Amino acid sequence: MADSKTTTARRSTGARSRSSSTSRSQSSAQRSAFNWSGKGSWLGAAAAGAAFAIAANLGRKLAMQGMSAAAGDWDDVLAAEHEATLALFDKILATDDSQTTKRALMIKKLAYALDKHAHEEEHVVYPALRAANDAHDADLLEGEHGYVKTYLFELSEMDKGSSDFLPKVREFRDMISRHAKMEEEEVFPRLKQGLTEEQNSHITSLVNKEGFKMA
Ligand SMILES: [Fe+2]
Ligand SMILES: [Fe+2]
Repeated sequence: MADSKTTTARRSTGARSRSSSTSRSQSSAQRSAFNWSGKGSWLGAAAAGAAFAIAANLGRKLAMQGMSAAAGDWDDVLAAEHEATLALFDKILATDDSQTTKRALMIKKLAYALDKHAHEEEHVVYPALRAANDAHDADLLEGEHGYVKTYLFELSEMDKGSSDFLPKVREFRDMISRHAKMEEEEVFPRLKQGLTEEQNSHITSLVNKEGFKMA
């Protein structure tokens, strides 16, 4: 009879069906990253040592950026970031065409928030989705992150006093809002439902760790 580690490996291996060589090499990486037993995971002894140094620096960094440490499960952390990002969009939409410096600074702040958020999702949650046999949604969402970068590029290149600025920001906000709604209402609950308590708290630790790296 298979032990629990073997069963986990089999479940993980069986979860993937894509056939390209790229997919196969990504799958190997996912198997090691999502070793649910914790052995050989990113939270090993070396990582724990590094985590102390990261944590020591975190308070100062968060204070500088006007942020507070996130609390709750991984999906609560990500939903809170969605909300904060949408609020930032609303502040940008409240500017007028004369506030060019303010707009430039706010776009930088928006880019920072979205980069941190994408880093957490792309390094932990989307790989976990693929491991749970939801590669379709993971690929779709990751593809949309590419367009997030495109909007950020266009807005940072754009004349901040242009009459095209706010319509572009509005279009970008709508896209982010739809993306966040799909994550919060469909994809994340489905993933969470299939996780054990241990797997769920492991994903929370990994999301927080990736967020600290970007803080
Ligand atoms: Fe996302
Ligand atoms: Fe998200």
